[in-house]
Amino acid sequence: MSDADASAAPTAPDENPQVRRVSDWDADRLRDLAATHETPLYVQDLDRVRENCERLLAAFPDADVRYAVKAHTGRAVLEAVRDAGLDAECASAGEVDRALAAGFDGSRLHYTAVNPPARDLDYVAGVAAAEPDLTVTVGAVDTLDRLLERGYDGRVCVRVNPGVGAGHHEKVTTGGAAKFGIPYDRAADAARDAAERFDVVGVHAHAGSGIDPEQLDSHRELVARMGDLARELADPDGDAAPVDLDYVDVGGGFGVPYEEDAPPLDLPAVAEATREAVAPLPDGIDLAVEPGRYVVADAGVLLTRVNTVKPTPDETVVGADAGMTDLLRPAMYDAYHPIRNLGGGRDRDGGDAPPVAEREATPVTVAGPICETGDTLGTNRALADPHRGDLLAVGTAGAYGYEMASQYNSRPRPAEVALDDGTATVVRRREALDDLTTVEREAARDRADRTEGGR
Ligand code: LLP
Repeated sequence: MSDADASAAPTAPDENPQVRRVSDWDADRLRDLAATHETPLYVQDLDRVRENCERLLAAFPDADVRYAVKAHTGRAVLEAVRDAGLDAECASAGEVDRALAAGFDGSRLHYTAVNPPARDLDYVAGVAAAEPDLTVTVGAVDTLDRLLERGYDGRVCVRVNPGVGAGHHEKVTTGGAAKFGIPYDRAADAARDAAERFDVVGVHAHAGSGIDPEQLDSHRELVARMGDLARELADPDGDAAPVDLDYVDVGGGFGVPYEEDAPPLDLPAVAEATREAVAPLPDGIDLAVEPGRYVVADAGVLLTRVNTVKPTPDETVVGADAGMTDLLRPAMYDAYHPIRNLGGGRDRDGGDAPPVAEREATPVTVAGPICETGDTLGTNRALADPHRGDLLAVGTAGAYGYEMASQYNSRPRPAEVALDDGTATVVRRREALDDLTTVEREAARDRADRTEGGR
């Protein structure tokens, strides 16, 4: 389904602002999309994805920029990012599969194996046979052994635990977490050992996700340590053999402002500080970065319709048709997403509610339809006095939004529309109740087939 119309993008086409706020989206366009496609509905603007890619490439002109696919794996987004010239960083066989389908060839694929299930390693070793330029980033010596068992002896990047991390929440602060990477003081030896069996092309560390401007010192510390490691490998003390690296990958994590008044990250300044901290890199060794959130977060909104307005002694609870199964981040990380009331609802007597501009701001909690107390999209928000039927836009929902959606409470996942140069296309249809039982019905059919075959 497709409706060519004005884009929901803000007007000035020759500008590429550092951030797109929920207030920048064209309200009429969002109302039309919700009316056509119903709610809950994700809207992802590919033009904004392209702008974000452009700003990253401009800030890191000499670096290899790899999109962390896990932030949004939709095919249309992957194709836009591929066309923009970024590589793909994939966390699973499924992500590698989707990146391949979207046209990334092996030389642009980086698979980061974290305690990889055998099925994932089997799959990736199979892909590598056809795409030998693919790189596997490995955070444990066990993973190297398991790759060799599968006949893989190709390009390997050694993931390091740099001992320093950063991020918007402890659950996504990665750098110091023992789960990830080979401890820093063993990393050089591990890389040299690996180089005897594989083509070791890089070293890697990731501080965490959603690094805000106050945490840039930790990020710089990580980058500096990775520069030291690269120099030690290229030109070792003592009689160790040098390792011929192509790159130092310092991960992703570039934060985006979620609060309406939070300043955007000064990306050119962060890039400059990163280059300075990693320098001097030996000849032939490039910098690499792996942003996910920065590419897609402010390119997406989640549209949801108010179905209940309940005054209580403490607060007004606004019930909406989207909740934690559509956007998990508030429930999981207490994450803040801006919410804008686009109006369109009814009075209790059935008449049109006043335009939002004429309504008073009211403190509310916006809660979803899931039977769980944590199921909120926002608490203590000042929203233009909400009415039943109003449309809400939940902003900065393009990263880790649809991606973390689930069917908990047997709720079908929402639809997603991509905007591309003014055209809206449904890129993920709304799930139906039938979709909830597909795998059960298929299992029952398999059982029946086996019984039949056994006769
Ligand atoms: N590289 C690696 C190895 C990663 O593990 C990640 C994210 C990235 C790059 C990209 O980080 P970004 O640039 O997107 O911050 N679900 C959480 C975020 C988890 C991120 C996990 N790893 C959230 O919604 O905040």
